[in-house]
Amino acid sequence: MKCFQYYFKDKSRSRGQRSAPELKQRSTTKTDDSSCTTDGMINSSCSENSQRGISEMYEEKAHNLRVFSFSELRNATNGFSRLFKIGEGGFGNVYKGSIKPADGEGDPIAVAIKKLNGDGFQGHKQWVTEVQFLGVLEHPNLVKLLGYCAVDGERGIQRLLVYEFMRNKSLDDHLFNKAYPVLPWKTRLQIILGAAQGLAFLHEGLEVQVIYRDFKTSNVLLDEDLKPKLSDFGLAREGPMAGRTHVSTAVVGTYGYAAPDYIETGHLTARSDVWSFGVVLYEILTGRRSLERNRPKVEQKLLEWVKQFPADSKKFGLIMDPRLENQYSMSAARRIARLADSCLLKSAKDRPKMSQVAETLEQIIQDSSEGSPSKNSFEATGNDDLIDSSKKLDHVEASKSWKRRMAHLANWWMYYLFNNEEQKGGD
Ligand SMILES: Nc1ncnc2c1ncn2[C@@H]1O[C@H](COP(=O)(O)OP(=O)(O)OP(=O)(O)O)[C@@H](O)[C@H]1O
Ligand SMILES: [Mg+2]
Repeated sequence: MKCFQYYFKDKSRSRGQRSAPELKQRSTTKTDDSSCTTDGMINSSCSENSQRGISEMYEEKAHNLRVFSFSELRNATNGFSRLFKIGEGGFGNVYKGSIKPADGEGDPIAVAIKKLNGDGFQGHKQWVTEVQFLGVLEHPNLVKLLGYCAVDGERGIQRLLVYEFMRNKSLDDHLFNKAYPVLPWKTRLQIILGAAQGLAFLHEGLEVQVIYRDFKTSNVLLDEDLKPKLSDFGLAREGPMAGRTHVSTAVVGTYGYAAPDYIETGHLTARSDVWSFGVVLYEILTGRRSLERNRPKVEQKLLEWVKQFPADSKKFGLIMDPRLENQYSMSAARRIARLADSCLLKSAKDRPKMSQVAETLEQIIQDSSEGSPSKNSFEATGNDDLIDSSKKLDHVEASKSWKRRMAHLANWWMYYLFNNEEQKGGD
């Protein structure tokens, strides 16, 4: 049984080189990852509770998903033509397609069709996880899964997923792809708020807690109004059983986003997602990816670089995305950096809950829309007497947070380790 695998994706490469897993091996560590059975179906980690787990909830809701035939999806994409391809990830290619509505009435609807590459166990397991979680989860900030296709034919297995079509690609494209117009400050805040609300729903809004495990800009898709929706639930897991603090599990995720405590111990909590959220907050501020290997050494790791420009320092403005051309509120930016620092605290339990993060973001957005639009050239050049000391973090006092984070960042060698090691043992 291949349940326990290190499965890590590397997002430091440029677009075009998609993130097929770089490390893929079994761990020697015994875990209680009960999410995996030989057929890849999810076992509920809540099975000892009165609570229902995802698989029980799925039983009830499975009928809402459409089951497509392979030929239906092949026709919808003109034979999976390259002309219909809209993206590519570790799972496989994504195509734009057009299908008949479920009731057969009305105009065809646009969909995104994800087609699993190959027939490996890991891919199949992720496909099952995605179907089960997205078959159950419904929220305005989660992408909608319309249905799936599973065929085990003479020519191998086919696994496909059919989603609502998101017209505006991903936050990753808008933030980092220079071919796109600059994402304005307020839009960035609205997008990150929606993403926070999506994560808060997963962590706190259901009878079972869901840990997402792959929060990053490319998994935040944007609809026609640039409303964000989280996608890719192939790595999602149920949270710990009642009375437990964490789930012990295989280490999976994407380099540059996964929480170091999770990488070190395999102990997964919802606060691992909070760490990833903190990383994305800094990406939003700076317009830089968490790992950029084409930069000078000291700037390659975003979290290491930004620690030279603390939120309360005169130098802070220097980290801000130059493409914003000073069109942002400096005090809001500082508050977001402090919020990010709290998400990036070394000790997972000291990080805020996602509902608190979402509330803080809402407050920051509200305060900055009430205030007059600020001109930041004064501050950005280093004259920084205007710091509003009353605007402290809601959850932690900023200087404490900063010191703890500085201490924590010493542990970033873990990332070197995981980047450089091909093998971590096998079972
Ligand atoms: N529902 C959708 N609607 C429109 N486009 C989509 C949809 N789902 C995915 N895409 C497009 O396909 C691209 C690839 O998505 P995918 O999730 O496979 O890979 P990724 O998130 O970029 O990388 P990774 O495999 O590391 O998660 C996305 O960036 C997006 O442009
Ligand atoms: Mg993705």
